[in-house]
Amino acid sequence: MHSAAVLGLVLLALGASGLDNGLVRKPPMGWMSWTKYYCEIDCVKHPFGCINEDLYMAQADRMSKDGYRDVGYEYIHIDDCWMANQRAPDGQLVANATRFPSGIKALSKYMHDRGLKLGIYEDIGTKTCGGYPGSATHLKTDADTFASWDVDYLKLDGCWIEEDEMPEQYENMEGILNGTGRQIVYSCSWPAYLIDQPQKQDYKLIAQYCNLWRNFDDISMSWSSILSIINYYDHNQDRQIPYNGPGQWFDPDMIIGGNTEITYDQARVQMTIWSMWSAPLIMSNDLRTVDEESKKILQNREVIAIDQDPMGIMGRLVANTTDLGVYVKPVVPRDTAKNTTSYAVAILNRSSSKKHSVTLQLSHLGMSNAEGYACRDLWELSDLGTFRPRDSFNFDIKPTAVQFIKCSLPNL
Ligand SMILES: *[C@@H]1O[C@H](CO)[C@@H](O)[C@H](O)[C@H]1NC(C)=O
Ligand SMILES: *[C@@H]1O[C@H](CO)[C@@H](O)[C@H](O)[C@H]1NC(C)=O
Ligand SMILES: *[C@@H]1O[C@H](CO)[C@@H](O)[C@H](O)[C@H]1NC(C)=O
Ligand SMILES: *[C@@H]1O[C@H](CO)[C@@H](O)[C@H](O)[C@H]1NC(C)=O
Ligand SMILES: *[C@@H]1O[C@H](CO)[C@@H](O)[C@H](O)[C@H]1NC(C)=O
Repeated sequence: MHSAAVLGLVLLALGASGLDNGLVRKPPMGWMSWTKYYCEIDCVKHPFGCINEDLYMAQADRMSKDGYRDVGYEYIHIDDCWMANQRAPDGQLVANATRFPSGIKALSKYMHDRGLKLGIYEDIGTKTCGGYPGSATHLKTDADTFASWDVDYLKLDGCWIEEDEMPEQYENMEGILNGTGRQIVYSCSWPAYLIDQPQKQDYKLIAQYCNLWRNFDDISMSWSSILSIINYYDHNQDRQIPYNGPGQWFDPDMIIGGNTEITYDQARVQMTIWSMWSAPLIMSNDLRTVDEESKKILQNREVIAIDQDPMGIMGRLVANTTDLGVYVKPVVPRDTAKNTTSYAVAILNRSSSKKHSVTLQLSHLGMSNAEGYACRDLWELSDLGTFRPRDSFNFDIKPTAVQFIKCSLPNL
C-alpha cells in the first residue's frame, strides 16, 4: 500500500507541475500538411496537393470515412503558408482568399461536423518560417482571431525571434490563449530551436506553459531522418522522461507511414518507437492514396493503445548495441497494491551486416513479477504465451525492422 501511494504521488506531482488546461491528457493524434506538402502554394500546377481548403477537407473526408477517426485520429492541422501575405488593415490575420475562399471558420465547422478538430499554425516571431505575418506584436489579436474561428489547437513556431525572448513570449501567449476562454491545445516549438544549447531547454518551465513542444529537427521523408530523431531522443532520455506525461508531451514530429519513401517495416518502426514514447501521432501523408498495408500499420489499435496509455510514461532505451536498441515502457494494467505493472517492449534493428538473433531475459529488462506476464506480438497480433522473469525472449529481426510486444500482468 505504501509503495502504491508513493507512486501515485509521483504521478500527481508531475501532472500538477504542467499546464493545467485539461487538454490532451493523452497524446494528440491527427494529420498535418507540412512534411507531405510543405509550403506548396501553386494550386495551378498542383491542384490536388497545394495548401488550400480543398486539401484539408479532402483529408478530413478520408479521416472520417476510412477508419482513422475511429481508432483515435482527431485533429486536422493546417501548417505554414495558409495566410495572405499581409494582415488586414485592422491588424487581423486573414487566410489567403484565393486558396481559402470559405475562410478558416468554415473549415473548422467542416471538421466539427465530422467529429474532428482543427489545428492552425502561427509563429511567435515577426514572421513565420515561410515568411508570412508572425504573431510577435499581435499575440492578443491573433489568439482572439483563432478563438473566434473555433480553432482547437495552435502550433506556434519559433522562427524570427531572439532565443532569449522565447520564454517570455511563449509564456505570454499561454495566458492570452487562456484568456480567450476557448480550449485551445498549445504546441510550442521553443526547445526545437535550442538543440545546440541543451542547458537552455528548460523542460520544467516549458511544461508549465505548453501542452506539447516540438523537440529536435523537423522530420523529412526518410529512414535516416527517423533514425536521427530516435538517436537524439535516446541520448537525451534522462532529461526528457521526467517531463513527459498527461497534458505535457514531447513532440518528435510527424508520422510518415503511408508514404512510399519508407518501407512497411520502417513505418512499423516509427509507429512503435513513437508509441513507446507516448508521442503525438500526427500523420503527414496523402490519405487519399495510402495503400491497404500502410493503413493497417497506421490503424493498428493495439499499437495505438500503447501510445495512448493513460499513464503517459515515456519509454526508456535500456540496452544498446551497434545494431539493436531495446526499449521498455510501463503501461496499464497495473496492480497498485503489489506495485507491479505491465510493460511494452520494443527491440529495434537499426540494420547491420552481421547475422545474429537476440536473446533477452525478462528480469534484465526490469520485469520481475513472479507469476509472469502474458505476452503478445503487437504487429503480428498473436499471443506469445506466458513468460516468467527467468524466461527469455528470442527473436530474429529483419533489417530496419522492429519487434513490438506487450506483456500484461496475468489475471487483471
Ligand atoms: C515500485 O516499482 C517500481 C518499478 O519496479 C520501483 O522503481 C519503485 O521503487 C517501487 N516503489 C516503491 C515505493 O517500492
Ligand atoms: C494567395 O496565394 C497565391 C498563390 O496560390 C498568391 O499568388 C497570392 O499572392 C496570395 N494572395 C495574397 C493576398 O496573399
Ligand atoms: C485557464 O487556466 C485555468 C487555471 O489554470 C484553468 O482551470 C482553465 O481551464 C483554463 N482555461 C482555458 C480556456 O484554457
Ligand atoms: C547506440 O549505439 C549506436 C551504435 O553504436 C550509437 O550510434 C548510439 O549513439 C548509441 N546510443 C546511445 C544512447 O548510446
Ligand atoms: C538485423 O538486421 C541484420 C541485417 O541488416 C541481420 O543480419 C540481423 O540478423 C538482424 N538482427 C537480429 C537481432 O535479428
